[in-house]
Amino acid sequence: MKLWIIGACGIVSTTAMVGGKNIEKGLIEKTGLVTELPYFEGIEKYAPLKFDFGGHDIRPIKNAYEAALEHWELNRHYERSLLNNVKEDLEKVKICKGTALNCGSGIEELGKIETLESENLTLSEIVERIEKDIKKFADDETVVINVASTEPLPKKCKYHETLDDFEKMIENDEKECATASMLYAYASIKLGIPYANFTPSVGSSIPALKELAIEKKVPHAGNDGKTGETLVKTTLAPMFLYRNLKIVGWMSYNILGDLDGKVLSHKDNKESKVVSKDKVLEKVLGYSPYSITEIQFFPSLVDNKTAFDFIHFQGFLGTKMKFYFIWDGIDAIVAAPLIIDIARFLLFAKKKNLYGVVKELGFFFKSPMETNIVNTHEQFEILKKWFKDLV
Ligand SMILES: NC(=O)c1ccc[n+]([C@@H]2O[C@H](COP(=O)([O-])OP(=O)(O)OC[C@H]3O[C@@H](n4cnc5c(N)ncnc54)[C@H](O)[C@@H]3O)[C@@H](O)[C@H]2O)c1
Repeated sequence: MKLWIIGACGIVSTTAMVGGKNIEKGLIEKTGLVTELPYFEGIEKYAPLKFDFGGHDIRPIKNAYEAALEHWELNRHYERSLLNNVKEDLEKVKICKGTALNCGSGIEELGKIETLESENLTLSEIVERIEKDIKKFADDETVVINVASTEPLPKKCKYHETLDDFEKMIENDEKECATASMLYAYASIKLGIPYANFTPSVGSSIPALKELAIEKKVPHAGNDGKTGETLVKTTLAPMFLYRNLKIVGWMSYNILGDLDGKVLSHKDNKESKVVSKDKVLEKVLGYSPYSITEIQFFPSLVDNKTAFDFIHFQGFLGTKMKFYFIWDGIDAIVAAPLIIDIARFLLFAKKKNLYGVVKELGFFFKSPMETNIVNTHEQFEILKKWFKDLV
């Protein structure tokens, strides 16, 4: 299968490429891949573990190998030999210049960037270029996935409501109403290519693009990969619910370094992430305990994201008790296999003629589209049933 990755030079993307290619060559185990669990036996027929990668980025990096090496040198997050095994494959990955339209002040942290809008292109020309790049790479077995830096919440605009309006926005070159993630999503879906959004950016979640997906009969999924603290939160909170213990307060304090951490240290970019992380408790519990969700940049940790959580809960006779946990994960290592899983499930969905939002993939996301189910246990059962019924 082919994966076109938005944010191709990032650490999640390049770690997925290194893992995907090593798996394809039979050089590593498939630990971490949900699709390789026995419940999903048969997926190989629809989405084999053979990969071609390509993508858009806005940093002028020579190739995906150089990008992977840069991340590896800072993080050493897997054995160096695994990168050597796939050096030539990564050097061949096609990376095209993308757009960073309304991506917020956070992207200033990326260093030198080169974008389509800096060529003075109109919105239609930007979309045309994105489409052309993807089309050149894509075949019937292609999925587009967004793992670019998190954008701020988009400006509210009338153009997001219907497909007609969205296309008018492009035609009228109303740049202040479009964000990069919308344009990538629009281009992929318009080309009939399944699209996933692993970031909290808006992507395909506006009504106009949902309409496009129905019209073009394309499956899509998102938003924001559930990989660390929120995964634990939405797995653990149900325990309190099942035992009728009342959570009175939950504090989540996240620290992380690396590029993602730098971008999220900007207030406007961080807002999308905090909203995405903060909403889950109410959805699991059915009420809103007092909550604090913080994300802070901590440079020396690089990609080693640490989350400290404090839960205050009330039991029998009104007695209050406390629960603490610390999540100490390597962000790219927990995210990368999910990129492959989501892409495989979306290709499976396409081959089963499904289209629109694939709610059953909510298991992978912090803010799953068109469902309020964020309880991990429930989500996993839904995913298993969905696959079993279709396969
Ligand atoms: N566990 C996780 O790592 C995890 C979980 C959920 C969501 N995410 C999200 O995934 C995304 C990627 O995380 P990362 O750690 O790989 O970050 P990263 O900073 O290493 O990579 C992001 C890449 O996107 C590129 N980019 C930025 N804006 C772009 C644009 N408009 N078009 C094309 N490319 C663009 C950057 O140049 C960079 O190469 C972030 O939005 C992050 O919040 C990550």
